[in-house]
Amino acid sequence: MTAPLAPDQVALPVKLGPLHLEHPLVNASGTFDLLEYARRYHGDFFADFPYAAYVPKTVTAEARTGNPPPRVTETAAGMINAIGLENPGIEAWIRGLPEWAALRSPVLVSVGGNAPDQYAAVIRALEAYLASAPEGSTPRIQGYELNVSCPNVGGALQIGADPRATAAVVGACRSLTDRFLLAKLTPNVNDVTVAARAAVEAGADGLSLVNTFKAMVLDRQTLRPFLGNRTGGLCGPAIKPIALRMVAEVAQALPGVPLIGMGGVMSGLDALEFIACGATAVAVGMGNFTGFEAPSRILAELRAELAARGLAAPAAVHGIALDA
Ligand SMILES: Cc1cc2nc3c(=O)[nH]c(=O)nc-3n(C[C@H](O)[C@H](O)[C@H](O)COP(=O)(O)O)c2cc1C
Repeated sequence: MTAPLAPDQVALPVKLGPLHLEHPLVNASGTFDLLEYARRYHGDFFADFPYAAYVPKTVTAEARTGNPPPRVTETAAGMINAIGLENPGIEAWIRGLPEWAALRSPVLVSVGGNAPDQYAAVIRALEAYLASAPEGSTPRIQGYELNVSCPNVGGALQIGADPRATAAVVGACRSLTDRFLLAKLTPNVNDVTVAARAAVEAGADGLSLVNTFKAMVLDRQTLRPFLGNRTGGLCGPAIKPIALRMVAEVAQALPGVPLIGMGGVMSGLDALEFIACGATAVAVGMGNFTGFEAPSRILAELRAELAARGLAAPAAVHGIALDA
């Protein structure tokens, strides 16, 4: 056993593809509303932003109102949601960019759609805007996360579950941007490495995994589906062991491809486990619903976990859970 270090002897920065992140933690799309946090924060939230990169809620070409309520409920060791990608559409989303231009952390824009041209429309619109936006007038958009895996809208899950459709989305977007391009994979498949490989061969620079598991909760009185959408996506600690297995499988199958791992990260030790399975960055989703301080707590715990093990950087455990 290596002698413990002091927490400040641990260097947390990581390199995710071309991105230099101050530490491995990012937020999972749809679980962290930057402007809402900024409104409630006593101080300069943009300067004190706790995550190393910001991933906004998925944006689509057209506005979406989302699914009928109820849209969220707690489950044993997790939560289920069927928001249905509610968002204002890319044109209105772009008009809102100056509101959070003060954020200095890199931004990975989560993009959704039902067909390759819908994803392409989002990226085309945003790239055109960024090409002419005055310096400092927008957040630092450094990449995209293609959400081909939302279980709560017709179409998108089929894309993520079909490697050819996944490749078509990635290919359509790859030709429109030189920015860092991630594909976010669905866990609702037998072999997650098939879509992972298809995405990378079509030009994805990295992969995020996993999105939520398609699931159902009943109203205990009526014994009918509780969610307005009938089914939703399960996340939280309940899915962590499956998510770890999938991250490890993809890391093993595609060595060197930058991975953002997620699924049930509630503590620094959870985050360390994803790094041990081959993730370079780790996203926090449901954990954000446990309290305002969750991101900084999880980060402090990650630092403490490394220090207690005498490890000077996350790289020391990267991939150690994989087969030799
Ligand atoms: C309320 C809610 C909304 C979500 N919205 C999105 C979304 O817009 N886009 C997306 O890619 N994933 C979305 N997700 C999935 C999360 O980003 C993440 O992949 C999943 O919740 C697993 O992480 P967790 O177990 O830490 O929550 C959402 C999850 C929740 C709970």
